[in-house]
Amino acid sequence: MEIYLDNSATTKPYKEVVDKMVYALTEEYGNPSSVHRKGVIVEKDIKNVRKEIAKFLGAKEKEVFFTSGGTESNNAVIRGIAYANKRSGKHLITTKIEHPSVLNTFKDLESEGYNVTYLDVNDKGVIDFEDFQKALREDTILVSIMHVNNEVGSIQPVDKIGKYLSKLKRKVYFHVDGVQSFGKIDFKPSRYNIDLLSVSAHKIHGPKGIGFLYVKENTKIKPILTGGGQESAFRSGTENVPGILGLGEAVRITMTGIKENIEKIKNLKELLLKEIKDNIDDIKVNSSEDGVCHILNVSFLGIKGEILLHYLEEENIYVSTGSACSSKKKGSHVLLSMGISNKEIEGAIRFSLSSMNNEEEIIKAVKVIKEKVEELRNIINKR
Ligand SMILES: Cc1ncc(COP(=O)(O)O)c(C=O)c1O
Repeated sequence: MEIYLDNSATTKPYKEVVDKMVYALTEEYGNPSSVHRKGVIVEKDIKNVRKEIAKFLGAKEKEVFFTSGGTESNNAVIRGIAYANKRSGKHLITTKIEHPSVLNTFKDLESEGYNVTYLDVNDKGVIDFEDFQKALREDTILVSIMHVNNEVGSIQPVDKIGKYLSKLKRKVYFHVDGVQSFGKIDFKPSRYNIDLLSVSAHKIHGPKGIGFLYVKENTKIKPILTGGGQESAFRSGTENVPGILGLGEAVRITMTGIKENIEKIKNLKELLLKEIKDNIDDIKVNSSEDGVCHILNVSFLGIKGEILLHYLEEENIYVSTGSACSSKKKGSHVLLSMGISNKEIEGAIRFSLSSMNNEEEIIKAVKVIKEKVEELRNIINKR
C-alpha cells in the first residue's frame, strides 16, 4: 500500500482531470487563436473554465488569468505591480517565511533599487499585525503575504490586512499567495479585499505547470510576458489548453466539495497528531493548533528528518522534510524564523494530507514511523 502524505509538494490528479487533458490532447487539440472551427471549440472550452473559476471566486471573468502556476503568478504580480507603480513609490512589504518564488523575486527587485520590508513571525509562524501597520510607509505600493505557509501551515491574518489596506487613502495593492490555501480555506478574494491572488493547479489534484492569477479590475500592473496578446495581453503565449482544462476540472471538484473536504482532512490531521503523540516519545509539534487543515510539521528529536524520510520511503510512505522546493537546502528559513532550534529543525518532518487519504493510512503510517524512529534512535544511542 502506497501512503502519500506529501500533498503540499504536489497531489495526485483526479481521474476527471486526466480524462479532460486526454480530450484536449487527442480530440480538441486546436489552437484557441485559430479562426476555424477547431480553434473556436477550444476557445469556448477555455472561456468556460475561466467563467467557472470566476464564479467560484465571486469575480468577473476578465479578472482571471491563466499562468504556468504559483511561481509565475507570484513573479508576475510582484514584478508587474512594482514596475507599473514605481512613480508612486518603491517600497514593498512581505514576510520572512514566504515561498522562494516570492522571496527571491523581492531580492531581485532590491537589486533594482526597490526597498523591501520582510516582516518577522512569532513562534506560531504568524506575523504581528502591529508590525505590519508600522511597516507601511508613504511610498509603499505593494503588500504581498502568503495565506497559508507551505512548511508549517500557519495562517496569516489576510482578512484583517485586506480590510486595513482598503481603508487607506492611497492605493496599496494587496497580493496573497493562495497556493496552499485555495481549496483548504473557504474564502473569496473580494471578501478579504485581496487585489491579486496566486493559485496553482497541482496542489488541488490538477496538472503541474498551470495555475491562475486573480487580478482585480483596474489594477495597474505591467505584463511580464509580451507577445501575441493572449490573456488580454497580460500573459502572451499560446494557451496551455490541456493544462487549463485540467485546472478547470480540479477547481470544479475542489470547490464543489470544499466544506466536506476541509472537514475530512482536518479530522485526518487530528488523528495523525493524536497517533503520533500517543505512540512516539520526544517529539515537538511545530504546527500550531489553529493552522490549516492539511499540514502538520513535527520534529522527531535526536534523529535526522532526512534519514527518516528515506526509511519511510522504503516502506512506500512519502513525507517531506520541508517544502519540496527548498528541502535540498540546509535549514528551513521558515522554522528558523519561528525561533525553532537547529536540533529541532534537523528532526522535522512535514506531513501534508489530502481528501484522497484515509484513516487506515494514517494509523499504518504512524505504526511504521514509530518503528523507524525507534530503530534510528537505537542506532544513534549505540554509537
Ligand atoms: C506557498 C507556495 N507558493 C508558491 C508555490 C509555487 O507553486 P508552483 O509549484 O505552481 O510554481 C508553492 C509550491 O510549493 C507554494 O507552496
